[in-house]
Amino acid sequence: SISAFIFDLDGVIVDTAKYHYLAWRKLANELGFEFTKEQNEQFKGVSRKRCLEILLDIGGITATQNQFDRWMIEKNEDYLEYIEKMDESEILPDVPKVLDFLKERNIPIALGSASKNARPILEKVHLLSYFDAIVDGNDVTKAKPDPEVFLIAARKLKTAPEKCLVFEDAVAGIQAANNANMLSVGIGHPDILSEAKYNFKDFSEMSIEFLTDLIAD
Ligand code: BG6
Ligand code: MG
Repeated sequence: SISAFIFDLDGVIVDTAKYHYLAWRKLANELGFEFTKEQNEQFKGVSRKRCLEILLDIGGITATQNQFDRWMIEKNEDYLEYIEKMDESEILPDVPKVLDFLKERNIPIALGSASKNARPILEKVHLLSYFDAIVDGNDVTKAKPDPEVFLIAARKLKTAPEKCLVFEDAVAGIQAANNANMLSVGIGHPDILSEAKYNFKDFSEMSIEFLTDLIAD
């Protein structure tokens, strides 16, 4: 049975994926090329540095170390402007309902995110207090699909990986959960997240019985 839950942040708890996309698109346009929503799919769950590498690849641009560092900062500054304005209204459907359900049962909850901006975002939307552990882009050396981020989270929750469930919206994130030997649940389009053990469009599609069954099993 499942005894701990790990949530990805961007695209699972809050809809920040659209802000990441807008900030990367702005940079791409400044550098003289287009960056589409489809291309953005491979940016989900991936570190800021890796995203810029892929973006420059798409644009066929070779950067000096100096330019690379500057563009990383520029993208993040634009992104921070978007998240500055965030509030509870940007929490995705039924996320508080699921968090409350788990909290009422004293089930440990962790965040497992590639973002270095995870804490300020959780503070902005007033969800920080739900989390017993936070593992983010500041804590990991290996990016998803490497299982590191989720394995650290499991250790912090003092729970064996096989007893952890991971909610993810990114292909790399589902792979990371599977690589960690955890139960992967995709939140988003089933065609994109076909490697997930279970899949829901969003949390409003997932019944509370689904959770009670997993916990009781
Ligand atoms: C992940 C996002 O959660 O965090 C990625 O899905 C993003 O798109 C990554 O690149 C790193 O985020 P940040 O906030 O550290 O730039
Ligand atoms: Mg995500």
